Amino acid sequence: MKVVTLAGDGIGPEIMQQAIRVLEYIVDTHGLSLTHHAYAFGGAAIEAKGMPLPKETLQACQEADAVLLAAIGGPKWQDATQTPEQGLLALRKSLSLFANIRPVKVSEQLVDFSPLKASIVKGTDLVVVRELTSGVYFGTPSYQKEQEAVDTNYYHVDEIKRIVRYAFELAKIRRQKVCAVDKANVLATSRLWRKVVAEIALEYPECEVTYQYVDSAAMEVIKNPTRFDVIVTENLFGDILSDETSVLPGSLGVLPSASHGTGVSLYEPIHGSAPDIAGLNQANPISMILSVAMMLRESFGQQEIATRLEYACDQALATCRTPDLAGKATTTEVTDAVLAAYKKENVYANTI
Ligand code: NAD
Ligand code: IPM
Ligand code: MN
Repeated sequence: MKVVTLAGDGIGPEIMQQAIRVLEYIVDTHGLSLTHHAYAFGGAAIEAKGMPLPKETLQACQEADAVLLAAIGGPKWQDATQTPEQGLLALRKSLSLFANIRPVKVSEQLVDFSPLKASIVKGTDLVVVRELTSGVYFGTPSYQKEQEAVDTNYYHVDEIKRIVRYAFELAKIRRQKVCAVDKANVLATSRLWRKVVAEIALEYPECEVTYQYVDSAAMEVIKNPTRFDVIVTENLFGDILSDETSVLPGSLGVLPSASHGTGVSLYEPIHGSAPDIAGLNQANPISMILSVAMMLRESFGQQEIATRLEYACDQALATCRTPDLAGKATTTEVTDAVLAAYKKENVYANTI
């Protein structure tokens, strides 16, 4: 198992370091045959190689069995000819990572850290299935002039079909509910999405399908989050809604993601490089460690280890939290707590 690690910028290197500590502990403890190699990416790669996605980085990702990414971007590169964000989009596109899976679970430990009432967030267990390689992020023409600017929201029917099918397959092994989020009252692309969802729904009679406009869904995901199981949506709506759902567990710093396509998969927290807290050993490493868990399960078939690691994260949060969750612990201390819980807990006795 060959893993490429891309630490990136801001808090990226700090949380990646912690993820690697955990990964190395797991590899040693369970005798896994797994190696990891770091490559330059994002702003760090602009500094080192003059571009956010150097050829050797892309090639290493293409040849890897999984890619682990922390975060990229920052004010320093906002006006670069090629920004770190463009590097990230190019990486997703080059690896054909069309399905971005963003799970949101509010465990008992986190119920009281949400700014929302415990009675609302308790039991939340949803997944945002975000289309990741098309839509307004990639449509052409896209340009900015002095007096006007254009972005194009483009979807081909095949791009919609594959992500919608992905969502139904996921719902099948969850609670059999799919909510398609769109803006079909205004956008032609959304109307095509609805048509495709309705067609594919016929192949999954066991699944319940609902359709919801994105403005209304943005409200309901906060008001009644336990109603949702699988949310499937286009690139931009998925980006916005998934950050919004981080209010449910109380912090962006606990949400991981997996991106799948036709080849290698990539695992990354949903948040960014958090320049406001970079270098302070304050960042929450849980989103990154849970991304490692997703990688172990989804790319390497290590179901038991992944579940045990998720459980360890949950246990650690009971007593040890970084400032985003109103705690005083450092990034390193939270990772220590995760490792201590991992060593102690027996996954067979305690599954989450
Ligand atoms: P952000 O997600 O970096 O930060 C938003 C807020 O959440 C900040 O207050 C930050 O401190 C906090 N936060 C985020 N992750 C945290 C963690 N692990 N622990 C504790 N607090 C955490 O969003 P932003 O500030 O809008 O963007 C900063 C940069 O990151 C931008 O350049 C943006 O383009 C980039 N970005 C990159 C990715 C990625 O690499 N996938 C994702 C989102 C944003
Ligand atoms: C994310 C980020 C990226 C996105 C940016 C940094 C390009 O917000 O991964 O959610 O919009 O997809
Ligand atoms: Mn985002």
